[in-house]
Amino acid sequence: MDKIHSTNNEASFKDDSEEHTKLIQHVKNSFYDIIIQNSLEAFFILDMHGNYIEVNEALCDMFGYSRKEMLTMTIMDTDIELPTKKAWLKQLNRIKTSNNQATRELRKVKNKDGSTLYFQTHNKCVSSPDLEQALFYCFGTNVTDLVKQRESLELLNRRCINAQEKERLRIARDLHDLLTQGLIVVRMEIISFLKQIEIQPFKIKMTEILGLIDQVLDDIQNISKELRPQNLDAFGLIKSIQLYVDDFEKHNKIKCRMKINNNSLLEMNITKEISITAYRILQEALLNIVRHSMATNVVVTISCKNDILRISINDNGCGMNSDVYRKKSSLGILGMYERVSLVSGKLMITSKPGKGTEVDPRNRTGS
Ligand SMILES: Nc1ncnc2c1ncn2[C@@H]1O[C@H](COP(=O)(O)OP(=O)(O)OP(=O)(O)O)[C@@H](O)[C@H]1O
Ligand SMILES: [Mg+2]
Repeated sequence: MDKIHSTNNEASFKDDSEEHTKLIQHVKNSFYDIIIQNSLEAFFILDMHGNYIEVNEALCDMFGYSRKEMLTMTIMDTDIELPTKKAWLKQLNRIKTSNNQATRELRKVKNKDGSTLYFQTHNKCVSSPDLEQALFYCFGTNVTDLVKQRESLELLNRRCINAQEKERLRIARDLHDLLTQGLIVVRMEIISFLKQIEIQPFKIKMTEILGLIDQVLDDIQNISKELRPQNLDAFGLIKSIQLYVDDFEKHNKIKCRMKINNNSLLEMNITKEISITAYRILQEALLNIVRHSMATNVVVTISCKNDILRISINDNGCGMNSDVYRKKSSLGILGMYERVSLVSGKLMITSKPGKGTEVDPRNRTGS
């Protein structure tokens, strides 16, 4: 009984294994048609010269060409950022040397109807020993809507930041034209009135009021300076940072030093957009140091290499975890990231509890 049972089992195992082999063979044979040709993702293969040697339906639909047309074309005909064979070979080399890893690329493609399409791709370059040529395999998804949405968001962001700058300028002007000038008139009236007062206690009180008015005038001037970086227009970015750092040390009793790694920076032409971005980030970083860090020492280091301007702001304070500055209610650091991304720059924030914080924006000078 046992024997019969085991023979049956063997037979069914054999059947199963034959079925399985057949199934695998079927998958292999139909793989290309089912996975590649019916895929909603676009797929193509290029040879080393950039010729399309295989394309699937999704790619043809996306680009607007027939399969026959596509197979007579090269990547230089479709890819806006690879207009020449030299550019293509450069990219191919980069992909070939990527340690056999698939690479990601956002491609900008010209459709048959002339419209532009954004195409997020995964690429891999495969060269087998029996093939003289390397082949370039690529899967891609149409992300035009996403890219357009991101562009509109960036535009909106840029407009918001510009509107914010204009509004700050208006408030600074009103503070100066209405409040400061009004208070100066009051101050002059008090001074002339003081001369006529003979009763000593009244004279003392009026002098005290004069002192209070002077204090308010100083406060208004400081608020104005924060709102409107007038120094930027008059002295340029580097000198303005120096003035700001000096002021910061004076008002906050935190030792703050500025280091310039390259003296030619003082004469460098830095665009207004980059200057205002760097200046606002410095303001926010220093304000954060006063509010949150308990630091006793700050170093602002300015350097420029290969046209990239770096302004690193280091404090020796309490530091923080990365999840702290990602909290949704905080706008300061978020605003720093938004500002640098609008000028295609980068922002690095390095911090650990107990180890201080470094805020390091890097932007092209744009000169
Ligand atoms: N230099 C620093 N040292 C220690 N902690 C810091 C430093 N800078 C920022 N932080 C932490 O990161 C958080 C986020 O900073 P962020 O500037 O985004 O917001 P905020 O200063 O709290 O508020 P605001 O939106 O007014 O700027 C702060 O609340 C603080 O906990
Ligand atoms: Mg802040």
